[in-house]
Amino acid sequence: MLNHHYTRYSRAKRGSGRGWELLGFTVAAFIGLLSSAPVARAQDSTIRAVQNIFDPLSAPAETLFNISVLVLAVCAGIFLVVGGLLTYAIIRYRRRGPEDDTEEPPQVYGSAAIELAWTVPPILIVVMLVLVTARTIGEIEHHKMPETAEQIRIIGHRFWWEVRYPKHDVVTANEIHVPLSDRHNRVPTEMILESADVIHGFWVPQLNGKTMLVPNYRNTMWIEPYATGIYLGNCTVLCGQQHANMLIRVIVDKPEDYQKWLESQKQTPGPDPQTEEGQKQFIANSCGTCHTIQGLRGANGVFAPDLTHFASRATLGSGVAPNDEQNLRSWLKDPQVLKQGCLMPNMQLSDKQIDAILAYLRNLK
Ligand code: CUA
Repeated sequence: MLNHHYTRYSRAKRGSGRGWELLGFTVAAFIGLLSSAPVARAQDSTIRAVQNIFDPLSAPAETLFNISVLVLAVCAGIFLVVGGLLTYAIIRYRRRGPEDDTEEPPQVYGSAAIELAWTVPPILIVVMLVLVTARTIGEIEHHKMPETAEQIRIIGHRFWWEVRYPKHDVVTANEIHVPLSDRHNRVPTEMILESADVIHGFWVPQLNGKTMLVPNYRNTMWIEPYATGIYLGNCTVLCGQQHANMLIRVIVDKPEDYQKWLESQKQTPGPDPQTEEGQKQFIANSCGTCHTIQGLRGANGVFAPDLTHFASRATLGSGVAPNDEQNLRSWLKDPQVLKQGCLMPNMQLSDKQIDAILAYLRNLK
């Protein structure tokens, strides 16, 4: 099993960055052109924007890729046989002239050979696919997590992701850091998926298949990424008006960078005289009823993203816009502009209040 895994690992290392276009990879999979040129691994800031199941970069995603190719190949074979016979029959037995209108072709009834030919092979093919699929599902679902495995709780909200690291007492939102796994230091990440309201779906195609987040239920899945970078994903279940902007960013860090990130997230921001006015306004305008900021008295809400290290995140509004000054200002003025239908109301803040809160939030590194 381990050897098997390592073979897969080296395969993925070799065949990365294929970057097939949507149509291109479908056609390529059909005609079996699955080889690809080696491409050097990219750095941490690489954004893996094409959500491509044919370019898996994580253990379970690669298993799914392999079975997809098998199923596509079998289906392509069936397509060629059926399409070929159909084309042959259309051409060979086409109407050649008026004499064909009076003559009927020979009628065949109850041929045991023909009946068996179109019954037995399809049954065998379906049984084979069922067995292979069941085996793959079992392999992924019952994969035993090693002691070293990282564990993350992800809670779906309308329309953002709460992310908790129970082993480290770290809470963040929308941008999920996980460690890179390699053959010398295997660190898979187990994800416990829950929902605070309606059904959501978690899918980062290059890392694993889709998993639902169901209210009052715990689903689990795991990933074991082979390459650093920023992986994009989406909520896959229509959960309301801003379903399409419930974006996922999984940031795969080298283990040392991951540790550094954890350390920085564990820090509680101390009192800062420079942003004291912003802290006051944050509490005075009830922001703390929904948002938590560690170390700020009165800011312990759980309805909205934890903002303790808000400025360390690259996006705001669950990926709806880059987390820069202009967008944050727009968000504070009226969140409904950038994300119409999000659950944060327009707080009717004055420009002065916005300036103060903006300075405070931009300082929460
Ligand atoms: Cu959450 Cu769609």
